[in-house]
Amino acid sequence: MNPTFPLIIIGVAVLFINGIKFLSSPKTARKGNLVAAAGMLIAFIFLLKTDGSSVWSHGWSINYTLIVIATIIGLVIGATGAYSVKMTAMPQMVAMFNGLGGGAAALVASLEFIRGSHSDVGITAFIAGSMLFATLIGSLSFSGSAIAYLKLEGKFEKPMTFTGQNILNGLILLVILGLCVFLTVNASSTNATAAFIIMFSLALFFGVAMVMPIGGADMPVVISLLNSFTGLAVAADGFAINNLAMVVAGTLVGSSGTLLTLLMCKAMNRPVTNVLFGAFGSSGSAAAAAGGVAGTVKPIQADEVALLLAYAQRVVVVPGYGMAVAQAQHSVRELSDELGKRGVEVQFAIHPVAGRMPGHMNVLLAEPNVPYDQLIEMEAINPSMDRVDVCLVIGANDVVNPAAREDKSSPIYGMPIIDADHCKTVIVMKRSMAAGFAGIENHLFYKDNTRMLFGDAKASLNALVTAVKAS
Ligand code: TAP
Repeated sequence: MNPTFPLIIIGVAVLFINGIKFLSSPKTARKGNLVAAAGMLIAFIFLLKTDGSSVWSHGWSINYTLIVIATIIGLVIGATGAYSVKMTAMPQMVAMFNGLGGGAAALVASLEFIRGSHSDVGITAFIAGSMLFATLIGSLSFSGSAIAYLKLEGKFEKPMTFTGQNILNGLILLVILGLCVFLTVNASSTNATAAFIIMFSLALFFGVAMVMPIGGADMPVVISLLNSFTGLAVAADGFAINNLAMVVAGTLVGSSGTLLTLLMCKAMNRPVTNVLFGAFGSSGSAAAAAGGVAGTVKPIQADEVALLLAYAQRVVVVPGYGMAVAQAQHSVRELSDELGKRGVEVQFAIHPVAGRMPGHMNVLLAEPNVPYDQLIEMEAINPSMDRVDVCLVIGANDVVNPAAREDKSSPIYGMPIIDADHCKTVIVMKRSMAAGFAGIENHLFYKDNTRMLFGDAKASLNALVTAVKAS
């Protein structure tokens, strides 16, 4: 083995780990992306140059032309996608890239398995097990991500469920695992290739069957879970082809994806099993009664809101998914600046699962350069919400629903929320009385201190800016 090889891998691992660490704060997230990308570039260039048998353990000759062509195609697709994707379509992009990663990991493992099983020396049970694991997890991550992508695109948002579905899926999984055990111990048998192809096809089908019953709105959690699967598949590939950089990168992706999945579920106060088997977030599932909410809805006009804002001492903005849909981030910055000029203290209350992806609101507000010290996490801002003069709820719904605190029968009961209802006056900006992600009525809209400013968030904010300037 080239003596510098372990040092390169340690260096790459340090870059990956620091990249992830930097990603944990909006202030350093850009740097985190660059640091992790640098790690990937170093791994790619140096490990490719190392033609020692430790990297390409089975003596494959390296076709540099093909690698360069594939790299250029990947760079063009990645850069074009990243520059052109709309913020609201980010989960789809993550689903697509994740699926391709899983598919690539599955293909590498499949080719290695078939080649190894036909070679004279054969493959050990450990290596065969790693390859089969990578094939299984990678292919179900590929097909599952493809379905997640289509669901996020609104192709079939409703969960597709039927009686006995979980039992059927369980049976398919059992057959797949049975074939994996058979292949692990009989990798070189004459039936191995046929059994492998059946296992591969069933794994692809299982990815579809696993994601089909899950509601379209739960897809971010599913994508995060599939992302951790892809990481594990890449790590298993690393064991199979003796590539330590893949083991390190795959393990990091696998563990961070798992942690992210658990954090999202915790922030929604739902177990992972409920996401995978509960069909929540579908149009029909969480149909809590619209009736039974005390109070009346009280609409308000933009010029009245402008007066309240202009004479307030402290204003808190609670952004949500609707603000991303309306692309109102620049308008809200303008309003905040305008109020700031008048001596009003403006803060943004950030709920961990506001929007549709982790850090959605941070990313959205970073675009118009809202200062980071104005973004306050939910736990930090909640204790002082009763000292807020005006709370502007912009396109947020579930994350400010007091039913999560007060109504034990609510599907979101127990989910931590931003205590917007504790503020002196609450202005809710949305287009209609339609429900949010959870499909349930919001008690906040009926409270005595709440006024509804109906309309598209961007149009309403622009009207507010004009009215505040004129007041
Ligand atoms: P939601 O509860 O989804 O509510 C969004 C609201 O925005 C809707 O009620 C909608 O009402 C309004 N809206 C849509 N387009 C608008 C526009 N152009 N202008 C103004 N308003 C608009 O959003 P939230 O409060 O951010 O909550 C997020 C939900 O997603 C939570 O339930 C969370 O558990 C879930 N979730 C989040 C994640 C992550 S990681 N963030 C992952 C999975 C699930 P109108 O149609 O009446 O306008």
